[in-house]
Amino acid sequence: METSRNVTYLRNAWYVAALSSEVSTEGLFARTLLNTPVLIYRTQNGSPVAMLDRCPHRFVPLSMGMRAGDDVVCKYHGLKFDCSGVCNHNPHGNGHIPRAARVRTFPLVERYGFVWIWPGDAPADESILPDVSPLTAGHPNGVGFTYMHRKTYYELITDNVMDLSHVDHLHGEIISTRGQLTPQVPQVKETDSTVATRWEWKQTPPIFILNQFLPEPMAEARHFVEVKFMAPTTVQLQIGATQDDQAALDLADCVGQYDLHTTTPETDGTTHYFFATRRNHLVEDADYNAAKIKGMHDAFVDEDGPYVDAQYVNIGNADLLSLNPVLLSSDVGAVRARRILRSVIAEEVRGSQADAADTRAVERV
Ligand code: FES
Ligand SMILES: [Fe+2]
Repeated sequence: METSRNVTYLRNAWYVAALSSEVSTEGLFARTLLNTPVLIYRTQNGSPVAMLDRCPHRFVPLSMGMRAGDDVVCKYHGLKFDCSGVCNHNPHGNGHIPRAARVRTFPLVERYGFVWIWPGDAPADESILPDVSPLTAGHPNGVGFTYMHRKTYYELITDNVMDLSHVDHLHGEIISTRGQLTPQVPQVKETDSTVATRWEWKQTPPIFILNQFLPEPMAEARHFVEVKFMAPTTVQLQIGATQDDQAALDLADCVGQYDLHTTTPETDGTTHYFFATRRNHLVEDADYNAAKIKGMHDAFVDEDGPYVDAQYVNIGNADLLSLNPVLLSSDVGAVRARRILRSVIAEEVRGSQADAADTRAVERV
């Protein structure tokens, strides 16, 4: 069985580099993203900056250096770089600054509580930033964010969220769906770059993350959950419950929450996993908010995490579908998400091969 391969990532796309709260106006923050070491910091006016975390002199990480206002000083031999990556001070010899003394920077957008990075060579396109605006709509104590590092391949995390039938089997009491999702074939809606799957069911008692906010916490309630994959790595999830027969199964009418799961490959076998949740109940309670995000974080780390890590031990970053896995009715969303990702990566590769062919043709003229 082939368990490791050179992976091609979609590069002309937005990935979360950090939670906004992880990057401060002091200090230097280092994170490897898509096998690339990246230095992130905030200028004194609060704007985030990202550059290759590698000094062009002897290639030590710039994150081992220090800030000088909005500049970064390499601690090894003292070259100083501004936030556009250009060397503006060389303490050696006559102080001449070699043209090659510059560091690649990366476009960033800070939105929805995250710092998003564009790792590709094409011009950054803000119009394709995933729209996860429900996270920002409402009271600041109604939303929580967290970060997890996993020793697994990022697509296995997408699979996990896209196939929620696992909640029937894997998860404990707090988010138990009491076997109601598994018998269903979820409804599917697909576009060129997204796929959404939806389940609707009744359970008694209602799911424990929501039941205390329903009129009769131990009585039957109608539920819905909908997940939507947005290539390359973002999944939004909406879940709600109601005991009102007239209510629509959506977040406007139900007690529920809007969650965001998004991953960024660190290396071919490790993944940054970012999660956020906004609820439509008890939205001003800061203590509840802290307990809520901790509960969601712990459920993933303690319950899903060991499974997606163990999958990686068994199959590495092999292309799952090439291993002829048994496919179940609940796999429909995850399989379509994989096909969408394959297709957008193939399109990007074709585009860069065509660009390279054009360049060669021009050079021959
Ligand atoms: S390695 Fe950075 S100045 Fe020498
Ligand atoms: Fe799960």
